[in-house]
Amino acid sequence: MKRVDDFRLHFGKQELVPIVIGGMGVDISTADLALEAARLGGIGHISDAMVKTVADRRFNTKFVKDKLKLYKYNVANTDKSVVQFDLGQLAEATKLHVGRTMEAKRGSGLIFVNCMEKLTMNAPKETLRVRLSAALDAGIDGITLAAGLHLGSFALMEDHPRFRDVKLGIIVSSLRALQLFLRKSARTNRLPDYVVVEGPLAGGHLGFGMDWAKFDLATIVGEISTWLAAEKLDIPLIPAGGIFTGSDAVAFLENGAAAVQVATRFTVAKECGLPADVQQHYFKASEEEIVVNQISPTGYPMRMLTGSPAIGSGIRPNCEAYGYLLDSNGSCSYIDAYNRQVALHPGVKKISVMEKTCMCTHMRNFDLWTCGHYTYRLKDTSRKGEDGNYEILTAEHIFQDYQYSVDNKIALPV
Ligand SMILES: Cc1cc2nc3c(=O)[nH]c(=O)nc-3n(C[C@H](O)[C@H](O)[C@H](O)COP(=O)(O)O)c2cc1C
Repeated sequence: MKRVDDFRLHFGKQELVPIVIGGMGVDISTADLALEAARLGGIGHISDAMVKTVADRRFNTKFVKDKLKLYKYNVANTDKSVVQFDLGQLAEATKLHVGRTMEAKRGSGLIFVNCMEKLTMNAPKETLRVRLSAALDAGIDGITLAAGLHLGSFALMEDHPRFRDVKLGIIVSSLRALQLFLRKSARTNRLPDYVVVEGPLAGGHLGFGMDWAKFDLATIVGEISTWLAAEKLDIPLIPAGGIFTGSDAVAFLENGAAAVQVATRFTVAKECGLPADVQQHYFKASEEEIVVNQISPTGYPMRMLTGSPAIGSGIRPNCEAYGYLLDSNGSCSYIDAYNRQVALHPGVKKISVMEKTCMCTHMRNFDLWTCGHYTYRLKDTSRKGEDGNYEILTAEHIFQDYQYSVDNKIALPV
């Protein structure tokens, strides 16, 4: 019987353990988590979502405070179009976050950054270009282009000296999305180095509609791999979403996948950014408490725990401090939903907004508990103490459980 460790992911001459820890935004996949994956010979992701906030937390910088100071006069204004990101500061924050992580890297693995392109930041193209080139400048090993995949992203990087040597990957949930991307970026004469195929059971945003349950990861991976073979394109495929045990991973690797991307199992790791009390909610979640809804202003369905404080919260939009989801006109669907409720309840201090949520504030505060479908199985991966709480695991333990387990077994901490 095979184990994940019987397989290797090959990037040119480089050999890696075929386990990728997926990006989990706003600093849920921390530098510490990514560093562990790299130390153990796999691939870890940091995320550049809300990078100024993350830099402030890690390095005591004052990016968010400075931005709020600049735009404080606009807080009560419903029109947020004046709120812009300072591109110099955006580059500086990205370089700090990425650069310090890369300096700390040990071991034979790699560290990639997950770049969620749906963070349009009131100037989609300009801010994306800065985020990408700052990450390249700071020495990142690879960039995974995620939700909101901008078909022109490769072109935004093509003048960078590292464009042809850095690893570039994309996340897709259908063959069609991959075909579109390849057609659009053909002009840059550069294929992705890997394609993450994310199925409907993943955490975070889903690349499906509310009919996500009709889709199946293995089927989508099969379609993409058949098409790539017919086109004579050799691009490593990395399935993601609901791969919970080493044996789940082996099933994909035996079918030709180059590696697997996993995340949910690591939400209860010591190195993960979620606060310890929130991690207990993940451990204790029942299947009924895991839902896919449409409250994310990105327009994509998102999976989360029903107990997330973000659900129904009617806080004032915080775009002067954050504003990562403002589109190119300075709009966000949460602002509209919030204003509708304010108009309907004149004079009421605390309103509830069910339709959308203020993603920036709630992700920043770890109040939007996004998670994968199998979160309800996390309780089977640890020991319950006498106080009813579960033991937090180390990333090393979880990584090696994926790497060495057989027979769908999950090793408990010793
Ligand atoms: C808490 C959490 C946050 C996530 N955030 C992001 C994100 O910011 N960007 C992204 O591309 N994927 C995100 N994902 C998806 C993961 O990177 C990964 O592809 C997926 O969850 C793998 O499936 P699994 O969780 O069942 O192992 C997130 C997943 C989780 C569990």
